[in-house]
Amino acid sequence: MAVKILWYLTTPDGPYPWEPEGRWATDFEHLKQIAVASDRLGYYGSLLGSSPNESLAVSAALIDATKRLRFLVAQHPGELSPAVLAKWALTFDQFSNGRLLFNVVNGNDAGLATLGVHYPHDERYDFSLEYWRAFQGFYAGDTSGFDGQYVKLAPRSPGAARHPLGGWHPPKQKPGIPLWGAGTSGPGVAHSVQLLDVYLSFANTPPKLGEKFRKVAAEAAKIGRELTFGTRLQIIVRETEEEAWAHAEKLLQRTSLQTARTAIERQLPAGQTLESFHSDDPQIQRNVDAIRAGHLPKARDLEIYPNVWLGPSLFGFNILGPAAGTYLVGSAEQVAERIREYEAQGTSAFILSGFPLIDEAHRVADLLFPLLELDHGFEVPRLGVGTPVPPRVATVEPA
Ligand SMILES: Cc1cc2nc3c(=O)[nH]c(=O)nc-3n(C[C@H](O)[C@H](O)[C@H](O)COP(=O)(O)O)c2cc1C
Repeated sequence: MAVKILWYLTTPDGPYPWEPEGRWATDFEHLKQIAVASDRLGYYGSLLGSSPNESLAVSAALIDATKRLRFLVAQHPGELSPAVLAKWALTFDQFSNGRLLFNVVNGNDAGLATLGVHYPHDERYDFSLEYWRAFQGFYAGDTSGFDGQYVKLAPRSPGAARHPLGGWHPPKQKPGIPLWGAGTSGPGVAHSVQLLDVYLSFANTPPKLGEKFRKVAAEAAKIGRELTFGTRLQIIVRETEEEAWAHAEKLLQRTSLQTARTAIERQLPAGQTLESFHSDDPQIQRNVDAIRAGHLPKARDLEIYPNVWLGPSLFGFNILGPAAGTYLVGSAEQVAERIREYEAQGTSAFILSGFPLIDEAHRVADLLFPLLELDHGFEVPRLGVGTPVPPRVATVEPA
C-alpha cells in the first residue's frame, strides 16, 4: 500500500498565523515560493481552499512555476456556469499537462448566498450533483448540452466547434478531472458516493476515521461504486519526540486565552456557553476547566490518541474534539507509524500543513518521506544523502 501526501497552499502564513503577531504579510511571490517548494520536494499536490484569493486565479498563475504538482482547487458549484468551469478546466489542463483536481465544496448558507447560490443545505447537494454531471460531460467533449432540473445548457453547434476560434481543447485527463470532496451530513454522504473519486474528512483518531470511511464505503458499494479516502491534518514532525512536543508547547504558549475561548465557543453545541458546557470525556472536561480557570492546558493534555493532538491551529483550536485543526505530533518514526495506522484504516491521501508552510514542508519531506511508500506517480526526490530508499511505484508522468 502507498499514500499520497499533499501540502497546503494558501495565505496566511507565519510561525503561528492564528495570532496576529504570528502572521506574516504575504503576497503572490510568497504563494509562489510555497508552490515551488512543494513541487520540488515532490508533494503530490497542493490544496487551495476557499480564501481571500480566488483559487482558480491562484492555481492558473502557478502553472508555469511548477512541473509536477497537482492543484486541488476548492470549487463551490454554481459560482460559475458548469460550461464555463469545464472550459476553464480544459484550458488549465492543456497548459499544465493535466494537473487539475477539484475539491467539491458545498460551503455554508450565508457564504454561498453572497456568491449568488441560494439553495438551502440539502437541496444544494441535489443541485451540486447535476452541476458536476454537466461539468463532467462538457469536460469529456459532449456537445449535446444539458437539460436538468437546475442546469440547462444549449447544445454547441458542430459547425462553430470546427472554427479555429470556436472549438474547445480535448480533455487531458481521462475519464475526467478527479473530483475530491467532503460531506458528513446524510445528503452530503449520498452526494459524495454518487459523485466523488476521493472522499475527504477532517481527521479524527485512526479508528474513528476508519469507522466513518467504512460507513461511506458501504453506502458507495450499495450503488456499485468504490471511493478512495483522504484526510486533512496539521503536522509537527521532528527528529525526536521531545523536539516535536517542545514545539507543540511553544505554539500553545504563543496562543492567547481569548483565541482558545473563541475557538471553543465556535465548537459548542447550540445554546451552550463555555461556563455551562459539560463533557462526559474527563480529558476534555479537564481542558475546558483549565480554560475556565484562565490558563491553557499543557501540550500533552491535548493528546487524545498517540501522536494525535488537539492544539491551536489556523483551522481551529478543537479542544472539544477533533475537527479541522487536528494535528499529528511526534518523531518521524512515530508520525510514519501513525500514518500507516490511518492507511490501515482506509486513508490513502493526506493533506498536511505546518507553519511556516515552506519550513515545515521541508521538514516533512526530509524526515517523513523516506519512511513512507509514496504513490505520487513520479520519482519523489530525496533531500537527505544516504537515506535508505524504500521501493517506489513506477514513474508515470501525468496524462
Ligand atoms: C479536507 C476538507 C476541506 C474542505 N475545504 C473547504 C473549502 O475550501 N471551502 C468550503 O467552503 N468548504 C470546505 N470544506 C467543507 C465541506 O465542503 C463541507 O461543507 C463540510 O464537509 C460539511 O458538509 P455537510 O454539511 O454535508 O456535513 C472542506 C471539508 C474538508 C473535509
